[in-house]
Amino acid sequence: MCGIIGYTGDAEATPILIAGLRALEYRGYDSAGIALAGGGRLRAIKSVGRIDALAEKAAGADAAGTCGIGHTRWATHGCPTEDNCHPHLSYGGRFAVVHNGIIENCDALRKLCESAGVTPRGDTDSELIAHLLELEYDGDPVAALRRVAARLRGSYALGVLCADFPREIYAAKMRSPLIIGLGDGAACLSSDGGAMPECVNRLAVLADGQEARLTPGGAEVYERGRPVAGEFVRCQSSRVAAGLSGYPHYMLKEMCEQPEAIARTVADECKSSRPALPRAGVTLIGCGSSYHAALACAPLVERVTGCRAEVRLASEYICSERVREHGRHCVLLSQSGETADTIAAAEEAERRGCRTLAIVNVHASTLTRVCDSFLCTRAGPEISVATTKGFTTQVGALARLAADSDPAFARELKSLPFAAEEALAAAEKTAEYAGRFARAKCAFFVGRKTDYGAALEGALKLKEITYVPALGIAAGELKHGSISLIEKGTPVVMICTDPALEDKAVLSAASVRSRGAFVLAVTTCARVAEACDGAVMLPRVHPLLSAAVSVIPLQRLAYETALLLGRDIDKPRNLAKSVTVE
Ligand code: AGP
Repeated sequence: MCGIIGYTGDAEATPILIAGLRALEYRGYDSAGIALAGGGRLRAIKSVGRIDALAEKAAGADAAGTCGIGHTRWATHGCPTEDNCHPHLSYGGRFAVVHNGIIENCDALRKLCESAGVTPRGDTDSELIAHLLELEYDGDPVAALRRVAARLRGSYALGVLCADFPREIYAAKMRSPLIIGLGDGAACLSSDGGAMPECVNRLAVLADGQEARLTPGGAEVYERGRPVAGEFVRCQSSRVAAGLSGYPHYMLKEMCEQPEAIARTVADECKSSRPALPRAGVTLIGCGSSYHAALACAPLVERVTGCRAEVRLASEYICSERVREHGRHCVLLSQSGETADTIAAAEEAERRGCRTLAIVNVHASTLTRVCDSFLCTRAGPEISVATTKGFTTQVGALARLAADSDPAFARELKSLPFAAEEALAAAEKTAEYAGRFARAKCAFFVGRKTDYGAALEGALKLKEITYVPALGIAAGELKHGSISLIEKGTPVVMICTDPALEDKAVLSAASVRSRGAFVLAVTTCARVAEACDGAVMLPRVHPLLSAAVSVIPLQRLAYETALLLGRDIDKPRNLAKSVTVE
């Protein structure tokens, strides 16, 4: 949700921190700040709004120094104001803190601060950590951090400066990712490996319960107060701000990358290194688009396993009754691998006696460590908050698993990237219809079976980036209530990619058209296209794979509508790329 960056070395820290925050901005963008050490004191520069506003403010401020931390925020406790913006300075100014995560016992900690005579300036749980550090401090910042961390309940990734040690950064972590990067004469900290400064050539993931001290000469990692060896691996700079490559938005760039991303994901690598889909009951779990990918892939998984596949929202799974699930296999889908609900669902699945398999796009993410095994999609970094290639490569990854036990299906799978390419070209036609969606009170996305998952995803894309209300509905459910919302001109997208469901789609289209709806078909079937007011024709693929193709025009439709409405497409309001709080 939020992003952390830290740098200590020989170079000026501010430009490095600002560049890191730009790479992290997609994780949260309602306010941002940096803190710098030097001259026996800490200085914080903060700004509400985007990183550009912070950069402008820093340019006119005393922003010199070679050691600092930075943060980009997505508000959870308290509105986006400068008081609530990180880094937070402690009451005496000795500590500065950036924090990702949620502190569950913050009410008790606030009382603790107040009873010690400290009145917090803002409403955040994070600010309390800075005050507690100063209260606990006895000359050793790592020891103070350890004692404060022991009081925290919930999740945290912390970056800390102490005015007494102006070349050092301290870090601690619990259930929120934090990575240390080392370069020649520099040490860095980030919540996201992809945002590490370019000087970094070694990375280590901090583990839950560990603390670290970073100096320009390296990093010391501690566990229960004792030094332990950090597991550093060599890396190349993976700065995600690779740029837009000429595209006006990351969302469009990432949509266009889908054929290649799917091709990489379904490529025939070594089958023996892949986990197999068991011939047993499987529960597919995810949130948002990952949940939709799970829904779209359930029929595919059922065909392979021969058993009913259950699909659950991660947030519902964790609060469902704990019935016996021993012997079931849970597949947890998450682009980021950092979604708190999905991680909690993996832990809950384990408690219920299930085997767990993660399908993630980020190799070094928390979910890969929590699950028994994992499989990576090969989408590459996804910056746009609205996922596109994340969804289609999840479908590709599950299809790859299915193809391992089905040679005929494996042959079909080879055509998927080409079909995605054709769908991209066909999707341009959606620009003709965007005006109807921009003006709509509510839009409908309708489909059955695999197309139902795509319909939900199409509706989510429209809501996310255009703020136009949209409903994704199982076609058979329309007549059970939602059809009452259809009036003259209501746009309905009818998705039909399975010839076996063609007749039903024609009937559904007729039932809403007769009530005045404007129906746009996204289909492989000529008869469905003829039965609607407009159509985007899709290339034929195996119906169980079709969500990776049919969703592409839906993404483009949302994109074109958002363009017409002048929306902030890559950073829609109220959203964050990965939702690391439950
Ligand atoms: C999709 O466009 C959204 N940004 C959101 O629904 C997302 O899919 C959801 O938060 C799950 O994220 P994950 O795949 O990283 O777990």
